[in-house]
Amino acid sequence: MFYSDDVIEEVRARNDVVDLIGNYIKLTKKGSSHFGLCPFHNEKSPSFSVSRDKQMYYCFGCGAGGNVITFVMEYENYSFLEAVKYLAERAGIKLPEVEVTEEQKRTQNRRQQLLDMNKIAAQYFYYQLKGKNGSQARDYFEKRQLSSDTVAHFGLGYANPYRDDLYQFLKKKGYEDGLLKDSGLVSIDEKKGAHDKFWNRVMFPIMDVNNKVIGFGGRVLGDGTPKYLNSPETLLFDKSRNLYGLNFARTSRQSFMIICEGYMDVIAMHQAGFTNAVASLGTAFTLQHGVLLKRYTEEVILAYDSDEAGIKAALRAIPILRSAGLRIRVLHMTPYKDPDEFIKNLGTEAFKERIEKAENSFMFEVSVLEKSYNLGDPDGKTRFFNEVAKRLLAFSQELERNNYIEAVARHYAIPFDDLQKLVNRYGMTMPEREIVREERSFSRRSADSLQYPEALLASQQLLLTWLVNDTSLLKKIKPWVGWEDFVHPVYQKVCQAVYESIESTGQIVPGQIINLFQEKEEQKLVASIFNSNIAGIEDKNAREKALTETVVKIKRNHLDEMSRQIHDLGELQNIIKLKSDLQNLHISL
Ligand code: UTP
Ligand code: MN
Repeated sequence: MFYSDDVIEEVRARNDVVDLIGNYIKLTKKGSSHFGLCPFHNEKSPSFSVSRDKQMYYCFGCGAGGNVITFVMEYENYSFLEAVKYLAERAGIKLPEVEVTEEQKRTQNRRQQLLDMNKIAAQYFYYQLKGKNGSQARDYFEKRQLSSDTVAHFGLGYANPYRDDLYQFLKKKGYEDGLLKDSGLVSIDEKKGAHDKFWNRVMFPIMDVNNKVIGFGGRVLGDGTPKYLNSPETLLFDKSRNLYGLNFARTSRQSFMIICEGYMDVIAMHQAGFTNAVASLGTAFTLQHGVLLKRYTEEVILAYDSDEAGIKAALRAIPILRSAGLRIRVLHMTPYKDPDEFIKNLGTEAFKERIEKAENSFMFEVSVLEKSYNLGDPDGKTRFFNEVAKRLLAFSQELERNNYIEAVARHYAIPFDDLQKLVNRYGMTMPEREIVREERSFSRRSADSLQYPEALLASQQLLLTWLVNDTSLLKKIKPWVGWEDFVHPVYQKVCQAVYESIESTGQIVPGQIINLFQEKEEQKLVASIFNSNIAGIEDKNAREKALTETVVKIKRNHLDEMSRQIHDLGELQNIIKLKSDLQNLHISL
């Protein structure tokens, strides 16, 4: 750690959460909280709340939450230390000088230096495009009908046809070979020396959701190969976790996002007003992509190329998107190859119509399947419907399944009852493991908390929630539950802090407790503790019973755990005694 807890706490306390967040998004006061549109997911009505009393924020839509430091980390994509520095400056706090070794400085700064370098490179490419060497590239963009506004919006550029042009430029800026190599922008060969990765290409900077340039794609001006060259994976650039265009799409405030295949498709769509388009760049769609999108939307429309490769890619992406919990539709581009060509030829209105008509993803899968059967032949037709029936079993909810049976039956003009019977017959005879269940929800919990039973975590969180909602409960709970009784390290720490805070000041400032954690995921978890409500149990007896049960459950779990590990007879007897006390426990309010 660089700074003492006191320093960090001062930085937090001197930046009011409502003032800070109010600078980023519009907040409206309602009751004791301020509400606004969540900047971390796409929504139309505000579920993002900021509380001055608690000095924290929380989104009821996506679960984002934390204190001022968390917010800056999330919004600006800063590390913990970067966020502390930023907020210290904002509040006019002079941070103490700290002794940092050269080694520490290097690793801390490496990411930032690479980000700076990428930004400089993007500016350099942009400058080249505008300059006298850029005329061919300018012609190229013009031929592709990109306006100069669009070029500027996406920061498009041009890499000169010289072999170490950018290298020399960055070198003059003071960057060393090691760092240059790690940026993926140049390669350095012992014999041949340094040369730029991109030359004589139009350049597409790739930005993360926070508008930071993390890599590049470069396209040949004519027909050469490879058509597109992309930055390699670097410390900044992880292809499976970034989507081109998401930095703009995430604020488009549409109820869905459009996924397409390429740079030019995204750009053409944004230019035509479809600012909710993104692309996975030359890599297969991953679950991380899906989870990333799920933060911003519930539904996606696949606008992949209409060729065989595009159909294959869509078939692969659909189950992945499903397991991220997204609804999916598939857009048909025929007779054009991709969105870029479609919009150029048929225009915006026609594309809008295609969006409206986009096909349900299951029906799309069925129509692709259909191609491998000869429906003109009775035998082929029978085999096809048997296959479809098997797939229909994937819908475990009856109503949903029947809706799909109906859709298929209508589409192929066969009686609903016949198809339903077939499905039911498979349902009774097919072994469970052969049914491909629709995975509809992807757990948002971090891998770390998966090792604890969900129900146990829930009651531990509940107990902390009781306590923060009513600090006077401390003296009733404390004799029974201590921090060691919590299983999750985050809860243990929260418990300690909450007890201490109530005992010394009689109150709790959630923002201060969140400050004990430096990982965004942990901060979010703690924020959620302070934002749960105890379901309004009116009746005093029922409340007492609920609280007692929660206490007993947590304590008993820990005692069970201990009795498995302890072999000392005396201690075991203690545990048994405690367990029997628990049986008679009644906490009165
Ligand atoms: P396409 O060849 O469909 O690209 O590849 P496009 O965007 O329609 O290209 P234009 O219109 O001819 O300029 C789709 C995506 O696959 C990746 C790129 O991300 C591209 O946008 N790709 C393609 C590569 O990474 N390398 C290649 O050589 C080709
Ligand atoms: Mn294209």
